[in-house]
Amino acid sequence: MKNAKIIVGVSAGIAAYKAVELVRLLVKEGAEVRVVMSANAGQFVTPLTFEALSGHPVYHNLFDAQNSMEHIRMAENGDLLVVAPATASTLAKMAHGLADDALSCLHLAFKGPLLVAPAMNEGMWGHPAVKENIALLKSRGVEFVDPEDGELACGVIGPGRLADTAVILDKVRSYFNPRDDLIGIRFLITAGPTHEAIDPVRYLSNPSSGKMGYAVAERAKARGGEVVLISGPTHLKPPVDVDFKPCKRADEMNALVQEHLADCDVLVMSAAVGDFAAEKLEKEKIKKHGDEGLVLKLVPTVDILLEVAQRNSGKLVVGFAAESQNLVESAFEKLKKKNLDFIVANDISAPGIGFQSDSNQVTIIDREENMEHLPLKPKLEIADLLLDRILTRLKRP
Ligand SMILES: Cc1cc2nc3c(=O)[nH]c(=O)nc-3n(C[C@H](O)[C@H](O)[C@H](O)COP(=O)(O)O)c2cc1C
Repeated sequence: MKNAKIIVGVSAGIAAYKAVELVRLLVKEGAEVRVVMSANAGQFVTPLTFEALSGHPVYHNLFDAQNSMEHIRMAENGDLLVVAPATASTLAKMAHGLADDALSCLHLAFKGPLLVAPAMNEGMWGHPAVKENIALLKSRGVEFVDPEDGELACGVIGPGRLADTAVILDKVRSYFNPRDDLIGIRFLITAGPTHEAIDPVRYLSNPSSGKMGYAVAERAKARGGEVVLISGPTHLKPPVDVDFKPCKRADEMNALVQEHLADCDVLVMSAAVGDFAAEKLEKEKIKKHGDEGLVLKLVPTVDILLEVAQRNSGKLVVGFAAESQNLVESAFEKLKKKNLDFIVANDISAPGIGFQSDSNQVTIIDREENMEHLPLKPKLEIADLLLDRILTRLKRP
């Protein structure tokens, strides 16, 4: 981002302290960063903090007699405006063109691309007014980095937490270094858990969030690839412009994989497909009878990767192994048995990584048994590193 001129807009949310780290990292990457603050943002972080980190005066007082045209001057000297965090109030002002402080005036004067990272309490995030303001901004081409699920400052767990700084940073980078190295490559990606019904209201599943597979789909698409994303039930929004195929059961996922296999170059099987399903699906809800236990007979589900391997499809195939013990040994075994080009192994027993988390620590093993331990990274970064390795292998003569 050498010499990229980035304006960071900070509004009055509890996550304003995270904008401090964002500014620090942007400066570290060589960007020339200017900060503009809403009139209320100073309640959370002082302009002095941003001034010290950016090395430039911070624009926060619209009616500063010495600097009265700063919203125009600054707007003319930025390549990108990143508003992080964007409060519900600032989103509303941007959507409806209000201009009553430094940030909102600069927003209207700025003609370049706008990237917005909202953060708020989950009730505010779910309010129709907020949703409509976001839809309006999106219809004008404004890009968003959606908030994450997690523990919020109000103590509630839910959506609304400012996206990880690394994710925002990655999005900012993509404005200045758009990558299109996957043009012409067709990806078939599976993600999320599967649900195997026991009766009309119960099912067997696992805590997979789908975040890893969605991250691979998002980055493959962003880098120019064509993407079909087959997903079990998740709470995630599919990345823009991917061909999205939702499903529930392992056999449904298998049918979709087999249907689309012929039209892909790369198959990435990141879904956490359940290994077992109930032998019999009860038509009615199973009743509880006092203290009597319930014995369920489970049968194995279809092994999708094995079916792909047996068809010897000639595709580049990537599998994932989530293990709670003997991680590397189990991953090697799966690599061989399922004839994979790569296996991405992660230790689900380690705290803070794996299924629900936005970050992961994985080991990538290739067909030749070269092993690469990656440090803890956001899933989007892991996705890019995996795609880099896939691309290198595809280019091999
Ligand atoms: C402690 C505290 C934390 C707040 N956190 C948020 C928040 O995370 N997101 C949000 O939209 N509003 C939050 N608010 C409310 C905003 O600060 C308030 O709507 C303010 O008017 C927004 O001003 P601005 O958008 O012009 O910066 C918070 C208020 C307080 C008192």
